[in-house]
Amino acid sequence: MKKSKAFIASFAAMLMLAGPAFAQSQVKRGEYLASIMDCGGCHTPGMFLGKPDFSRALAGSEVGFQIPGLGIFYPANLTPDTDTGLGAWTEQEIITAVRTGTRPDGRILSPAMPWRSYAALNDADASALATYLKSIKPVSNKVTEITGASEKPKGPYFTIVQP
Ligand code: HEC
Repeated sequence: MKKSKAFIASFAAMLMLAGPAFAQSQVKRGEYLASIMDCGGCHTPGMFLGKPDFSRALAGSEVGFQIPGLGIFYPANLTPDTDTGLGAWTEQEIITAVRTGTRPDGRILSPAMPWRSYAALNDADASALATYLKSIKPVSNKVTEITGASEKPKGPYFTIVQP
């Protein structure tokens, strides 16, 4: 009895030590995935203007993607800022948006965001990516709103030519 109590205590201590180490490795894995999946290539300010602002990495792009017939879509602020970023999103909501293109409000993200390619992300990697996005510095940056297909453009944009 005594022995098993001691075992449980030491096991609990081990878990307490392993917890933060696991969280840290999740963040590192997520950072690696965000880098090779090039989230910053679209979501970091200045990236498309030849002057990326890495001090505000992933805080959203001022250049949008026009999809003819659909509208102009600006890569969102992915930092955990509550008002302008993903601060109010749960990790599960981030995972769902990345893998299925579905936002918490039900809107389906335009194909300018390559969520169809990211659908193949496995659970462990999707979770690491979401944990990483939740861990970065919140940056307040409101990206330009979606522009409807017939509306006047509100900011610079690329046009995606569909095959
Ligand atoms: C080729 C450019 C591109 C890449 C690469 C990209 N995104 Fe996006 N992303 C977009 C665009 C454009 C939108 C806005 C789409 C819309 O509003 O319909 C978007 C929207 C999002 C949203 C929805 C946010 C919101 O507030 O609605 C999330 C979450 C997101 N991206 C996460 C990611 C992550 C994580 C990565 C990397 C794994 C990534 N994106 C890579 C272009 C990109």
